[in-house]
Amino acid sequence: MPGLVLLLLGLLGSSGSLPPPRISFPLNSTDRPLVHFSPPGVHNTTTLLLSDDGSILYVGARDAVLSLDVSNRDVISLKNKLDWSPSDGELQECEYKGKDKTVDCPNFIRVLQPINSTHLYACGSFAYNPHDAFIDADSLSMVQISSKAKGRCPFSPVQRSSAITVDGELFTGTMSDFRGVEPLISRHFSKDGRPDVSQDTLTSLLEGERSALLRTHQTLSVD
Ligand SMILES: *[C@@H]1O[C@H](CO)[C@@H](O)[C@H](O)[C@H]1NC(C)=O
Ligand SMILES: *[C@@H]1O[C@H](CO)[C@@H](O)[C@H](O)[C@H]1NC(C)=O
Repeated sequence: MPGLVLLLLGLLGSSGSLPPPRISFPLNSTDRPLVHFSPPGVHNTTTLLLSDDGSILYVGARDAVLSLDVSNRDVISLKNKLDWSPSDGELQECEYKGKDKTVDCPNFIRVLQPINSTHLYACGSFAYNPHDAFIDADSLSMVQISSKAKGRCPFSPVQRSSAITVDGELFTGTMSDFRGVEPLISRHFSKDGRPDVSQDTLTSLLEGERSALLRTHQTLSVD
C-alpha cells in the first residue's frame, strides 16, 4: 500500500495513555493527503491488521470487527462488518460482578491476527469474560467461537496485552484473571504435536531464564 496514508478519525486514539505517533503532520497538508473514514456507530478501535497484500485493513473495535477496502488510495470503503457483542444476560452478569455495563462490559476486541491463509483469530474482553473466534477473513463470518479465551486476551478493556501468530501458532502475553493481577505468557494452537505452554508469572519466567543462564555459565566454568 505504498504512499497511502490512512487516518481513521474518531476511531483511533481512544486509549489516552499511548504516546503520540513518532511521525506526525498537519491535517489537510498537501504533502501528505489523508483519507478520512469514520463509519457511524463504530467506537473504541483497539486493533488494526493489514492484509499481506495491503488491500484490506481489518479493524477490531467495540462489539465489532470490520474489514475496510484500502486498495484505492483516494477512498476507504467498508467491505464487511461483524457484530459481536455479549447478550443481555451476559451484560447483566458482568454488571453483577461490579462492572459498568456500558463502560466495561461490551466486547472490546483486543487481538486480531491472521491464523492461516483464509481465517483470522480474534479475542475480545466480552463482558469481562474473554471470548475468542476464528473469522473468515473474506466474509467476516465466524466459524468457531469459544468462551475459553482466558489467558489469550485480558478481561479488562483497558489493560495492555500483546499477541502474535507465527505459522498458525498464537503467542500471547496478558493478564489472565478477572482482577487483572496474574500475568501470563503462553502459546496456543501449538503445531506438530507439541503441547500448549504457559508461564504463570513474569517473575518466575525471568527467574527461570536467570537460573538457566547460571546453569549454562556453571557448565561452561566446569568444562
Ligand atoms: C471507549 O471510547 C470512549 C469514548 O471515546 C472512552 O471514553 C472510553 O474510555 C473508551 N473505552 C475503552 C475501553 O477504551
Ligand atoms: C483456517 O482455520 C480455520 C479455523 O480453524 C479453518 O476452518 C480453515 O479450514 C483453515 N483454512 C486453511 C486453509 O487451513
